Amino acid sequence: MAIENSECFECHSDESLTKESTANILKTDITVDLYVDEDKFNHSVHNINGITCVDCHSDIEELNYDNDLPHEEYLERVCCANCHEEEGEAFKKSVHMEILKKGITMTCYACHGYHYVMQMEAALLAERENTYCLKCHNPYQYHEWLPAKESHFAFVECIVCHATDVPQQIHLNFVDLVTNKFYESAEILKILDISYDEFMPMVDKDSDNIISPKEFDTLVLMLKQKNIHARFHAELVAELMPAAHQVERGMAEKTCEKCHMADSPYFNAVFIILRQQDGTVDHHEVDRSVLEGYNISHFYLMAGTRVKMLDKIGFLLLAGGACGVFGHFSIRVLTISYRRKNKK
Ligand code: HEC
Ligand code: HEC
Ligand code: HEC
Ligand code: HEC
Ligand code: HEC
Ligand code: HEC
Ligand code: HEC
Repeated sequence: MAIENSECFECHSDESLTKESTANILKTDITVDLYVDEDKFNHSVHNINGITCVDCHSDIEELNYDNDLPHEEYLERVCCANCHEEEGEAFKKSVHMEILKKGITMTCYACHGYHYVMQMEAALLAERENTYCLKCHNPYQYHEWLPAKESHFAFVECIVCHATDVPQQIHLNFVDLVTNKFYESAEILKILDISYDEFMPMVDKDSDNIISPKEFDTLVLMLKQKNIHARFHAELVAELMPAAHQVERGMAEKTCEKCHMADSPYFNAVFIILRQQDGTVDHHEVDRSVLEGYNISHFYLMAGTRVKMLDKIGFLLLAGGACGVFGHFSIRVLTISYRRKNKK
């Protein structure tokens, strides 16, 4: 008989349930909180995918209610890599395994947490990094060679540079120009008055499965007509895959031209991300040349993305300046004899 989550919640939804334990590195007596937030757990990626309490706490085979405590007092540690084998393998090659030499094991949940692991695909950079790297590292202490640190850390995910084997993507998120708030997918769909499945057919008029710059502009216009001043916030993130765990020492990307170059491969894959109510995520491909338009907020990649119209205006200004100088010079030359006469 499978054990239902509700049986565990009988006791573990009690906020005051704690135990005294000495099973920690310092071997001191500390109070461990045994409360599990049912609502938060229900929204976790594991619950959504049907993973139950005993799938992880797999040493509980039955609950014996003859005892006060229906299971063992000390349970085995949950091994995440039992189910996530590839991530476990990739993590073994990471610089973070090196602290093993100092007798410390970094667990998977040092970064991910355990009961409330969220779906990451549609997560913003701030949500990804705040929950991972920034817990332990302050990036401003390193990277002396990197100018505009604030921009880079705000627009580029740490592992884009630190796990270079992982392909990158640009994610475009809807953001309100006036309030500077991000829109949930559901909000945008409600404003457009369409269902999730109608988004692509509506936007992608020529049905080639890529949103062209023209179709992109039409989308922005449609939102404007609904009185919504939506802009797009672009972020350079890594694809979700096991190799994201291979953070190695001295291997990070430092070559500016990898990104700051026309046609940089880092910007080949551009997507609008929509998140459905049930947690599934859809990528809608967008032509990369939209990065050169006005609708992308604060994402200006020197030498990489550029507003072509500004090039033309720049050229006109230069040409105008040159004409002015040349014209002035020509007139001076042509009028030499006249001016000499005048002087006399
Ligand atoms: C009748 C109440 C009750 C039920 C039902 C119950 N637990 Fe517990 N659980 C406890 C108590 C009490 C403790 C603290 C035991 C102690 O003081 O050592 C505990 C401790 C634990 C611990 C910590 C063990 C450790 O090694 O520190 C885990 C994990 C746990 N329970 C998981 C579960 C899961 C999963 C279920 C459902 C399959 C479940 N419990 C069902 C009462 C319950
Ligand atoms: C994705 C795997 C996973 C699932 C699903 C899961 N747990 Fe846990 N749980 C862990 C891990 C990891 C720990 C940390 C301690 C350890 O390694 O055992 C833990 C610890 C606990 C503890 C000890 C207190 C604490 O928070 O550290 C309790 C109690 C507990 N779980 C109860 C539950 C209950 C009840 C459910 C179902 C509602 C559940 N767990 C579902 C992985 C899981
Ligand atoms: C140093 C922090 C860190 C640790 C420790 C860590 N992860 Fe991750 N994990 C990440 C990051 C960062 C990503 C990728 C996020 C992205 O691509 O934007 C990720 C992605 C994932 C994913 C989703 C991508 C995929 O491969 O499907 C899974 C599953 C995962 N990790 C499991 C694990 C497991 C299991 C462990 C332990 C062996 C672990 N993680 C340890 C940081 C960590
Ligand atoms: C009983 C099997 C099982 C265990 C144990 C388990 N997971 Fe998962 N995990 C899954 C399944 C199933 C999914 C959903 C499908 C997928 O994305 O791979 C998932 C998804 C994930 C994701 C992906 C989120 C995303 O955005 O796709 C992360 C991160 C993750 N688990 C971390 C952990 C961590 C950390 C632990 C240990 C505390 C753990 N898992 C333990 C089965 C498990
Ligand atoms: C739980 C804390 C923790 C988290 C979270 C964490 N790290 Fe670390 N990181 C460490 C520790 C501790 C070391 C030192 C390892 C050593 O000294 O051998 C380290 C080392 C490093 C190094 C090598 C530093 C050196 O001295 O060469 C890099 C690079 C790094 N981490 C990047 C990251 C990135 C990127 C993330 C997010 C995906 C991350 N870390 C998340 C604790 C953490
Ligand atoms: C533009 C690429 C880039 C970005 C973005 C980036 N890093 Fe780095 N980082 C590097 C390079 C290159 C080094 C030099 C050492 C190396 O090659 O590993 C470095 C060094 C480090 C070190 C110290 C390693 C040492 O040897 O002392 C840590 C820790 C670190 N980064 C963490 C982070 C975190 C956390 C983030 C996200 C907030 C981040 N980095 C974002 C490229 C980057
Ligand atoms: C992994 C890709 C990547 C690498 C490597 C990289 N950059 Fe950037 N850089 C970006 C992105 C993305 C932005 C856009 C951020 C923005 O619009 O503010 C940016 C922005 C900038 C800016 C403009 C900041 C602003 O506020 O407008 C400067 C200056 C810059 N980078 C210089 C460099 C230099 C110098 C190097 C090499 C030492 C470098 N970058 C390496 C991705 C990268």
